[in-house]
Amino acid sequence: MKHIVVQGGTDGMGRGIALTCLRRGDTVVIVGRDPKKGESFLAAADGIGAGARAHFIPADLSLISENERVIRQITEEFPAVDALVLCARHFLARRRETVEGHESTLALFYLSRFLLSYGLRDLLEKAPRPVIMNVAGPGSPTGEIHWQDLQMKRDYDGLAAQMQGGKANDLLGVAFADRYGANDRTRYVLFNPGGVSTSFSGEYDAATRRHVEMLKRMAKSVEEGIAPIVRCLDDPPAEPVSAFVEWQRMSLADTSFDVHDARRLDEKTRELLSR
Ligand SMILES: NC(=O)c1ccc[n+]([C@@H]2O[C@H](COP(=O)([O-])OP(=O)(O)OC[C@H]3O[C@@H](n4cnc5c(N)ncnc54)[C@H](OP(=O)(O)O)[C@@H]3O)[C@@H](O)[C@H]2O)c1
Repeated sequence: MKHIVVQGGTDGMGRGIALTCLRRGDTVVIVGRDPKKGESFLAAADGIGAGARAHFIPADLSLISENERVIRQITEEFPAVDALVLCARHFLARRRETVEGHESTLALFYLSRFLLSYGLRDLLEKAPRPVIMNVAGPGSPTGEIHWQDLQMKRDYDGLAAQMQGGKANDLLGVAFADRYGANDRTRYVLFNPGGVSTSFSGEYDAATRRHVEMLKRMAKSVEEGIAPIVRCLDDPPAEPVSAFVEWQRMSLADTSFDVHDARRLDEKTRELLSR
């Protein structure tokens, strides 16, 4: 029996992956914000006879303190983690800062994944074939790191903030493998599922909302979207870091995966978190 942690497991692909793992006999803990969705997940788990193996930790993962609490709780309650699945996101048309003073999109879409990846590393290393599955946007031709203004205090744009998060997650995978890949068992997988009809958690302006509704009509189902992710969870690549777009493995030769950029962002992130 595996132990699976799903960040953003209350909805969309995270919920789909969590229920799939429960059906296969794994123990699953989901972390999400909405208690009602958490209860609905636990009820669905009961419905398939997996109630005893299903756990919900409510948390606002845009807060550093909440990520630290979640890491402590999982470390106290679980002997090992076989897979950490990273799915939380929330689109913000307007810039917002958390009570801890971080720009919210960067905090949820990148800093939370950074903290959970490194914070659960010891538990991952206790599993026989551990994997971190970071579901975001590798392979996207758009998006950039705003090196001089990571928190986008000037010229915030919701889409640009989301795209920056995607690029930052690509570099997170590269930096994690750069730091630990030679000696650790944990494999870091960057995964772009393509268009999938999910909740598209967010607070949108009217034009972006219309665009999202159109995308959802054309997108594939959650079941189709998660199929290649589940395959990869079962059989992670041998290399310390890898990237996929749907069923297709990507080359890491693209500048999105530059190891110097990865080290630079890693340093900037640690500095930001230490403030
Ligand atoms: N859907 C697509 O077409 C698509 C395409 C490419 C990449 N992706 C990537 O795939 C991943 C999963 O996307 P999805 O579409 O399945 O997600 P989704 O349906 O939008 O669900 C997002 C999840 O994030 C959680 N969340 C939002 N704010 C949170 C907060 N402050 N604290 C804790 N949890 C929070 C939500 O929890 P609550 O509902 O409980 O608030 C929910 O469980 C994302 O990283 C996304 O960027 C998706």
